[in-house]
Amino acid sequence: MIPKETIQDIFEASRIEEVVGDFVQLKKRGSNLLGLCPFHNEKTPSFTVSPAKGIYKCFGCGKAGNSVNFIMEHEKYSYPEALRYLANKYNIEVEEQEPSPEEKFAETERENLFGIHSFAQKFFTDTMLNTEEGKAIGHSYFIERGFRDDIIMKFQLGFSPTAWDSFTKSALNQGYKEELLIASGLSISKEDRLYDRFRERVIFPIHNLTGKVIGFGGRILTSDKTKPKYVNSPESEIYSKSKSLYGIFFARNAIVAKDNCLLVEGYTDVISLHQAGIENVVASSGTSLTNDQIKLISKFTRNITILYDGDPAGIKASFRGIDMILEQGMNVRIVLFPDGEDPDSYARKNRSADVEAFIATSADDFITFKTRLLLSETNNDPIKKAGLIHEIIQSISIIADPIIRSLYIKECAGIMNMSEQTLLNELNRLLRKKVLKGHSNEVNAETQLAAIDTEAIPVEQEPLLKTDDCSSQELDVIRLLLLYGDKTIEYFEETTSDEEAGSEITIAQLICNDIRANQIVFDNKVYQEIFDAYAKGVDENDIPNDVRFFHHSNQAIANCAIDIITPRYELSPGWEEINIAIPREEERLQEASLRAVLSLMHRRLSILITNTQKELKELSTDLEEYNEMYADLMSRNIFLLKARNSISNRLGRVLNN
Ligand code: GTP
Ligand code: MN
Repeated sequence: MIPKETIQDIFEASRIEEVVGDFVQLKKRGSNLLGLCPFHNEKTPSFTVSPAKGIYKCFGCGKAGNSVNFIMEHEKYSYPEALRYLANKYNIEVEEQEPSPEEKFAETERENLFGIHSFAQKFFTDTMLNTEEGKAIGHSYFIERGFRDDIIMKFQLGFSPTAWDSFTKSALNQGYKEELLIASGLSISKEDRLYDRFRERVIFPIHNLTGKVIGFGGRILTSDKTKPKYVNSPESEIYSKSKSLYGIFFARNAIVAKDNCLLVEGYTDVISLHQAGIENVVASSGTSLTNDQIKLISKFTRNITILYDGDPAGIKASFRGIDMILEQGMNVRIVLFPDGEDPDSYARKNRSADVEAFIATSADDFITFKTRLLLSETNNDPIKKAGLIHEIIQSISIIADPIIRSLYIKECAGIMNMSEQTLLNELNRLLRKKVLKGHSNEVNAETQLAAIDTEAIPVEQEPLLKTDDCSSQELDVIRLLLLYGDKTIEYFEETTSDEEAGSEITIAQLICNDIRANQIVFDNKVYQEIFDAYAKGVDENDIPNDVRFFHHSNQAIANCAIDIITPRYELSPGWEEINIAIPREEERLQEASLRAVLSLMHRRLSILITNTQKELKELSTDLEEYNEMYADLMSRNIFLLKARNSISNRLGRVLNN
């Protein structure tokens, strides 16, 4: 826990141009600095740093943030890690705060679990290397599989003894508590006795991103079909199967360097590829890919290559997982191994350079792969082919980038021997359907609309707008506060004529007074916090500017402020130029502020009215209850309608001004 004041110190000390400058060569351009974006590949610089605002923004890929964001993104650090990095850079001493009792308990619990796993790993490795049984069965198994000793040690492989409680006894002897042994899953309690989960198996430790052991996989050594081939650690406070990837710690640097992550099925595939010098590889350990695993990979690269050894049926079952990767805007390529080979066996039979070449040359992009695979099954049956088109276009429609979509359409048209237009029509039909259904929960209607490809039929506006929340109205109010809150204008009463002199007032005063007078609470918690800061500033006569929020110690607030402010710079490469390009709103700030607040109130009331009317419709048929409720709801309804009407009138006046 880093104290709030220290976080503030770190933010204040950090100069964005110095922080970025350690990694990116920056050149002066006006009052800003310009360089090649470290987050995407580019030849002409579009990565801009504003020392005045303390933020960066890439006009190519859209990434934006403050110093802390930059270090998190660039170094893949967590928030506290990034803060410590900057503290170190600027010689700020970080005194860690005492954690609360609950935090301490959770922390100790995790520490203890890491401790027992580390102990267990040493126990298993030691057993493999230094016991008769371990040497004869465990170590020799790995050697027969062709694993070199340096690789065995790198992956910290091991062996669990045949006796039913060797590990448990040894751990208890070392003072580890029974509860911890059970919580870690390493020991199992049955009829008041503890016995080992892993017995007579070779052991593959599973590491987290920072290299700590969080679980184990144990492979059987016999061909006993009545026992499972692998036994794995259960989920615990430190191990979540759906969030971990086997090998990620050993692969992370290579994934960044190669800008690609190879995905295989099993422990042994990862290890054999490493031995062949291919290190950017992780395994999903036999389960289908989860969104959390994809997110983990996306910290390091946008490109995934899946190495398959399966039969077509197995591959088809994984299509959904691949669609999930596309949905996250990542690129997927597929390598299919020749009959009966998996990455492990292939890497053992071929020279390293050949393995690498094979993967590089036989990788197909997912869409092409899926098209070929399914096409080979249609046997030119027109009905099956129509179904196939639907399937493929479905996958293409998930891709967010319209340029990539159109490239795929071209490619598929070629493979399937069909006109591009036919495929495009089908694609647009699907995209429209998605927009109308409000299908995606993250992307808003406008972006979706913009996503529709060339020659799309225009869609009616009405059903696209979300009518059950006021997020866009809330956002507009906050945007105006951030952009102009500290600006002073000459204020004219709505009813006064133009000749009378106005009074001096800040935009923050104008907006905060209105919002508070109408007792509006923001649905969005982050917006509410930003608003509260302005309201406090109004009361204390110290109105913050946007820059203060860019460096807020609450990361959600900093990100939100940066997100709200930067899009307006997106159309042009230079920030200064833009400031000239949008004078309209700035010249009419009073109207803009009033319009924003009134629109928010209007939307609020509309939602209340819809809800009230819904309640009216769903009134109980029980007569007595009905009468009582009806009167209440009706008067509420009328009150709300009147209120909205008056807002509508004011809005009308503002708009026609
Ligand atoms: P080898 O057969 O020794 O090459 O092992 P492998 O790791 O290649 O195993 P396989 O290809 O059969 O399975 C791929 C992955 O699925 C394994 O690495 C395990 O993570 C997982 N897996 C396989 N069998 C089992 C099982 O019986 N139980 C569990 N929980 N996982 C399994
Ligand atoms: Mn295998």
